[in-house]
Order: sequence, then C-alpha cells, then structure tokens
Amino acid sequence: MAKKNEGIKAGTRRDEVLRKHKEYLFPCITNYYAQPLVADHALGQHVWDIEGNRYLDFFGGILTISVGHCNPKVTGKIKDQVDRLQHTSTVYPNEQIVALAEKLAEITPGRLQKSFFCNSGTEADETAVMLARMSTGNFDVVALRHGYSGHSMLAKSLTAHAPYRRAGIVSVGISHAVSPYCYRCPLHLTYPSCGVACANDVEDTIRTTTSGNIAAFLAETIQGVGGVIVPPKEYFKIVFTIVKKYGGLFISDEVQTGFGRTGKKWFGIEHWEVEPDMLTGAKGMANGTPVGLCIATPEVADGFKGMTISTFGGNPVTSVAARATIEVIEEEKLLDNADRVGNYFRRKLEELQQKYPLIGDVRGMGLMQGLELVKDRKTKEPAPEATVQLMERCRAHGLLIGKGGLYGNVIRLAPPLNIGKGDVDEAIAVMDKSFGELN
Ligand SMILES: Cc1ncc(COP(=O)(O)O)c(C=O)c1O
Repeated sequence: MAKKNEGIKAGTRRDEVLRKHKEYLFPCITNYYAQPLVADHALGQHVWDIEGNRYLDFFGGILTISVGHCNPKVTGKIKDQVDRLQHTSTVYPNEQIVALAEKLAEITPGRLQKSFFCNSGTEADETAVMLARMSTGNFDVVALRHGYSGHSMLAKSLTAHAPYRRAGIVSVGISHAVSPYCYRCPLHLTYPSCGVACANDVEDTIRTTTSGNIAAFLAETIQGVGGVIVPPKEYFKIVFTIVKKYGGLFISDEVQTGFGRTGKKWFGIEHWEVEPDMLTGAKGMANGTPVGLCIATPEVADGFKGMTISTFGGNPVTSVAARATIEVIEEEKLLDNADRVGNYFRRKLEELQQKYPLIGDVRGMGLMQGLELVKDRKTKEPAPEATVQLMERCRAHGLLIGKGGLYGNVIRLAPPLNIGKGDVDEAIAVMDKSFGELN
C-alpha cells in the first residue's frame, strides 16, 4: 500500500514538473518523448526518473557524460573546490585554471598551447571565429552544411540546419561548403571514385562566395547534430591545404568529438592527421559541469587584440571538474576502452542492420555511433516517424538514445566512455526488441 501511495506521489510530482516546464520555460526547450522523462538522479551509466524507473543511458546528456554520471572521482574534487574557492573571475590567477590549461596543452594535438575558457560550446566557437578574424585580418569564414555550432547569433549563422537558424540570422561573412555526407552525397557521387570532390567544394566556396581571403574554416570532425556524419579519411587533409592557400586558420570543433569520444585519440581531428590552428571543446570535457574551451597556437592566441573577459570562464570549480575528468580518462585508459568497446558496439549495430531493412546506414567512431533510418534502402527516403517510435520503444524497455540529422531520422548513440561490453549487449538487446516491435 505504502508503495502504491509513493507511486501516486511520484506521478503527481512528475505531472507538476511537466506543467511548470510548459508554463515557465521557453517553448523552444523541447523534450524527448510523448510523455517526457522527468530525471531525478543518476549514477554511472544509469539515470532514474522521478517515478523510480532506471534507464541505461546511451546518450549521456547529449554526449556530455564522458566518465559516467556523478562520477565520485570528479564530484569529490568539485565538492572540495566549492568549499575552498568557488569564484574569483579571471582578474586573479589561480592554481586550478593554470593546471587545466597546462594539461590541455599536453593532450591537444600539434602546437595548440594557449587556452581561453568560457561557458559553452557556443561561446567556444564564437571565440575561435573572433580570434581568427583578429589574428588573420580577414573576415570570411567557411563552415559546412549540416553543421551545428550553437545557440548565439554567430553560432546560428555557422550552423547549417534551417530549424536552428530561425532567429533572423544574417550570415554576413559566413559561407557553407557541402557536407562530406557520403550516404547522401550532395554531389551525387560515390566514394572513393568521387575523388573526395566534396573537399574541393571548399575551394569553390571560397572562390565564389568570399573575398578570396578567409579568416577560417570551422568544422566538426564528425557532424553530430547533423546525424553522425563521418567525412572520408582524406577529407580534412585536402581541406587543410585549401584553407592555408587562402590565408585561413583551421578550426576543429571538438565539442562532441573531443576528449576521447572517438576512441584511441583524445580528439577527432587526430584521426585525420591534421594539426588545427585552433580547437574548440565543451560538453564531455568536464562531465556535465558547464565549460567551453578555445585553444590556439601561441601566435594565433597572441593575435587577440583589445580586451575581453568571460566572468565564469575557467572558474576554479569548472577547472577542477575538467581536470578531474581528463585524469579519469587517462587513469582508466578510456581512449582504449572507447575504441575497443566502440568497435564491439559497431559490429553489433551492423548485425542489427542485417536484420532490419529500416537501418540504411551505420556510421561513427568509437563511442559516437549513428543509425540512419530509411523507409526504403534504395530510395533512402528518411524514416523520421520510425525514429521517434524506436526511441519510445527503447525508453519503454529502459534504454535512452538520442536523435539528429536534418531529416530527424538518425539515431545517435553515445554512452559514457567507461561502459563495458555487457552494457553494449544490454543496449543491443533492447534495440533489437524495439526494432522488432515497430509497425
Ligand atoms: C559541434 C557542436 N558545437 C557547438 C555546440 C554548442 O555547444 P553548447 O550547447 O554547449 O553551447 C554544440 C552543441 O550541441 C555542438 O554539438
């Protein structure tokens, strides 16, 4: 009886949260699921809703939970730091911010060395573009179609998904080259006989839509919101040469792909063997503590003229959280784990693809994987309704997954980097059952 009453109480609390969410938050803050999941607490790879249901989390708060929810190795250090020194702003240096910056200089590729900290991926991309314009003296920026850069006006201009651009966006000085989206090649070619023609579109874009001198090229190494789009292995090397020819800096947006997500390497761009001039990070960098990073080579960073400030950027608590997250990734060898478990996961997803014609494409790297769902493998007509249904079925069986893609038909899978094969088996079993239940 007591249990039943608790259930009623939990249901009432859930309804109350949903009612207030509707009443007091912007409607653009949309939730997943017909009956949104009201989260209550989480630990490791699991999340519990307010009614006590447990879920295996394969989306990690949009690729942000990198070392497991509420990891005590991270939260313990955060708690100590909150009691010691919570905030100073950047006008006083502290040990925490320099320790993080030093660590980042060590783990980021090439000559990246000097960091600017802010609060989100949006600000990180803003900072990178601002710095590129100051340091090169050029204005034009080339980004990619299907890319996502965030919530500010500039980030929305860089973004190339119509629904995210409905804010009176004026993209002066920003052009978009075609996406290296092999499954739906915008040039109607096939890899590898295409000769990676999409990379050369960056040059066409520069020559036809810019002044001919660019400040930067900015791209995600794997387009996440765009639907886990993985460029061909030659792509970024070709683009890098073009970017340099026209005076630009190469900015690697690692907001989703950074900090071990893609397996084996710390950052996505390392798989393409390109050394960026700047790199941006956020999300998984601090395992859920709000953070943004723009790291640049010393000469690029020194090109920032004038003054700027980010009140909370590199806050001691955030810095400790990020450093602790990086240390867990190092100590527990999670780059290897993401590679090993990621490859296992990928094989299992490909087995599902053999079984269900709805799965048109399986793609990704490490523990960032995607399934593109189509009504017909020949026509590749997107299946957004089935995507939503699959998410509902998985949720009903205790698995959280995400979605993306311009057509809303890509399932996005990104569990914490410290999961094991058993978690993959559990997720695959739920997905198998859920696919089987679709009409
Ligand atoms: C690749 C990429 N860049 C930038 C952003 C913006 O980050 P934030 O939401 O932290 O502002 C996102 C967010 O999803 C992203 O995926």
